[in-house]
Amino acid sequence: MRKTAGFCINNVNIATMSASSNVANVPYGIKENGSVYINAGRIEKIDDANHLSADGINVIDGQGQWLLPGLIDCHTHLVYAGNRASEFEMRQQGKSYSEIAKQGGGIQSTVNATRQASYESLLHLAKNRAARLIEEGVTTIEVKSGYGLDLETELRMLHVAKDLERTLSVNIEPTYLGAHSVPKKYRESPDEYVKFVCEQVLPEVVKQGLATSVDVFCETIGFTPAQCETVFIAAKDHGLNVKAHVEQLSDLKGAKLAAKYHALSVDHIEYLQPEDIPALAKSNTVAVVLPGAFYSLRETQLPPIAALRAHNVPMAIATDLNPGSSPIASLLTIMNMGCVLFGMTPEETLLGVTRHAAQALGLNRKGQIVTGFDADLGLWNIQHPCELSYGINQVRPSRIWVNGEER
Ligand code: NIG
Ligand code: FE
Repeated sequence: MRKTAGFCINNVNIATMSASSNVANVPYGIKENGSVYINAGRIEKIDDANHLSADGINVIDGQGQWLLPGLIDCHTHLVYAGNRASEFEMRQQGKSYSEIAKQGGGIQSTVNATRQASYESLLHLAKNRAARLIEEGVTTIEVKSGYGLDLETELRMLHVAKDLERTLSVNIEPTYLGAHSVPKKYRESPDEYVKFVCEQVLPEVVKQGLATSVDVFCETIGFTPAQCETVFIAAKDHGLNVKAHVEQLSDLKGAKLAAKYHALSVDHIEYLQPEDIPALAKSNTVAVVLPGAFYSLRETQLPPIAALRAHNVPMAIATDLNPGSSPIASLLTIMNMGCVLFGMTPEETLLGVTRHAAQALGLNRKGQIVTGFDADLGLWNIQHPCELSYGINQVRPSRIWVNGEER
């Protein structure tokens, strides 16, 4: 991405979300009446307002607004074709998400539509969805494959994901999710499909540099822990990070397994049991909660937020934007859900889309307003950063910078 010349954003209240502010016990890492100097796409200096404006550089007047890290949506499936509105109708008539999946609908139905879609139409659809996130101040989006399941379509999805970065002003983190669902062809031999994922597709994904992480769906309607472990081992052999959809519909002990492989994150976790939480704390794995899927599937089992908090497991929060369980293209709405449905605090949800979301993606220069970090920033005309989670469709950033370049 192109870098800009140096400039200064002056006269702003800053929610740094910095790790050191935790130690100092400063909520949101707030620094009032500050100034941020940006050079070559990075945050070079943070100071009191006006201190940085004297040296003849380009100065932007922040007018006393709030400067926040660019938001990070660390779990999406936003490249796909078709929709599953008819399954929503079926669910409201009483059929469950799992029943629909077992009868050949669910992920399989999106796989059929996505395989048939051209590169251009997938890109067009994905761009429209990403644009919804971006207008809310999202500057980094994780995008998973997993609606192709064959070599050709999985690679196409990942190329489309990368292309979003070229065509929109946003950072994209692509994840290979071959173990999302067992395709029809392998229904009687799922282990053969896992072999195909590890031996045929993964090496090609690596060769073409199309993903930084590998994800799995550890579930009764997905893959067994043993199959997920095979994928983790292959991913680690190729030097990729691992992540996992676990404990969404049942407790298969996927989180514990993922922790053993030092997963960056375990995602969903409604059915995660308290006794499995210390393992996450030990492996420094981020717990990613996805209230959009909880809400859309009318789930009643809540993720163990209080226990995660008690064990200091970093929590992130994301849209899970997908056509089945979470057709929701709004990270700000999801933050509100994290508070109202899951009992998170507004500070926790903001951490969950900044510092902790960056950690869930293995990005060590994003998600905080700290010297040396990437200048992904949003300026917000609000009284306090808790307003991002407070309502629904109430606030938008007034200005956005991605890698130091104004969007
Ligand atoms: O994160 N749980 C697995 N994958 C997605 C849903 C995919 C779909 O239903 O299309 C999720 O909820
Ligand atoms: Fe997901």
